[in-house]
Amino acid sequence: MSSKQFFDEVAGSWDEMRERFFSENVREKAFAVACVQSGRIVADIGAGTGFITEGLARRGLRVVAVDQSEEMLAEMKRKFAGLEGIEYRRGEAEKLPLDAGAVDYVFANMYLHHVESPPEAIKEMARILKPAGRLTITDALEHNFEFLREEHHDRWLGFKREDISRWFEEAGLKSVTVGDLGELCTVDSTCGREQARINIFVASGEQ
Ligand SMILES: C[S@@+](CC[C@H](N)C(=O)[O-])C[C@H]1O[C@@H](n2cnc3c(N)ncnc32)[C@H](O)[C@@H]1O
Repeated sequence: MSSKQFFDEVAGSWDEMRERFFSENVREKAFAVACVQSGRIVADIGAGTGFITEGLARRGLRVVAVDQSEEMLAEMKRKFAGLEGIEYRRGEAEKLPLDAGAVDYVFANMYLHHVESPPEAIKEMARILKPAGRLTITDALEHNFEFLREEHHDRWLGFKREDISRWFEEAGLKSVTVGDLGELCTVDSTCGREQARINIFVASGEQ
């Protein structure tokens, strides 16, 4: 099964799954690191059913929500029917459906560990930032819970802070910081034998 097929299948239950995995503190802390200001335009990459998108739209930002999965986008459109300022675009990590220099902020929560090439995905997210725009990524720190590859289609078992920092710099970003978010991602294996408790990092850098 491809990653797209997996996320198409779980789209209807993603909100429920997400609530078990991590809390709303993740997005609040990410927004604080990025110093988001209302009235700006932002891209949420690997938006899923709009965990990040919703928080930003409610703060008065215009959001372009991008995902490879039509089912995730459809779920988000249904949920946010009454919420203004959100555009939904299907797109892939390697070629995001946004022009260079299009947005003030880019966010990507729990997306990077699913893409084929994390350094290339970071470069592509940096490309769509305006000058002085900010990329903020929240994702898993390195771990060894192999069951996540099979059960959740994870491609990478988290990341080392130094790799993330280097990839941000190679993408031309400045003032790069990579810190522990102080939040956990918690996932139980289906057979109940393993319980993953994974630290989440927050990385941020400016174009
Ligand atoms: C773990 S979910 C996270 C969703 C959302 N950001 C959240 O925090 O709830 C990862 C999302 O990234 C999307 N995704 C994974 N690989 C992708 C790729 N190569 N290009 C675009 N989207 C991708 C999936 O379809 C899925 O919706």
